[in-house]
Amino acid sequence: MASFVEAMREGYSRDTLRPETPDTIAGVAADPAWFLNQIVNPPTTVVLPDGTLGERVPETLLWYVEGDEFLGSIAVRHWLNPVLEQWGGHIGYAVRPSARGKGYATAMLAGMLDHVRANLPLTRVTLTAVQENHASNRVIRKNGGVLEKAIPHPWHEGAIGNRYWIEL
Ligand SMILES: CC(C)(COP(=O)(O)OP(=O)(O)OC[C@H]1O[C@@H](n2cnc3c(N)ncnc32)[C@H](O)[C@@H]1OP(=O)(O)O)[C@@H](O)C(=O)NCCC(=O)NCCS
Repeated sequence: MASFVEAMREGYSRDTLRPETPDTIAGVAADPAWFLNQIVNPPTTVVLPDGTLGERVPETLLWYVEGDEFLGSIAVRHWLNPVLEQWGGHIGYAVRPSARGKGYATAMLAGMLDHVRANLPLTRVTLTAVQENHASNRVIRKNGGVLEKAIPHPWHEGAIGNRYWIEL
């Protein structure tokens, strides 16, 4: 947990659409048991980037670690709702800033695709990435991502995203 909090202080964020704040970091640092409990027993709703409440779909969250060091996280949603169909897709991931550029995200996504093949009834997954996020687009392409189309980002005015599919 200490390494996870350190990663948040460094710039790792649990939600790629929203950076952590001093308050969210302090909340996790002050009560790790509460933090872990709300991962295992998540609420049924999620606060969307525009502040409204949306439906939370079940997801599997995996941490990428080396010994006691937290390096990054990746999550797969078990199915999509209309919000996730529009943006977000099945899989999202992040690597802590000090661990970037070492191939970890590429390895995390490859590992997650194996996990999905073995554990979920999905035959293909969709992922989205803003076009300026060159590293993420590369991670997806290196894992077999096929571009379906460019789409306007629903939460970031003027930003364009790419929607990919990976056949499992
Ligand atoms: C996107 C992110 C997960 C990439 O993690 P990473 O561990 O650094 O990625 P990798 O080391 O596996 O690199 C993947 C590829 O991107 C390339 N890359 C990295 N940074 C790049 C950049 N700024 N411009 C172009 N390519 C870049 C790497 O060279 C590598 O390609 P290569 O193997 O052909 O050389 C990381 O930057 C991150 O956590 N960003 C914030 C959260 C986020 O954007 N998540 C994804 C949302 S869609």
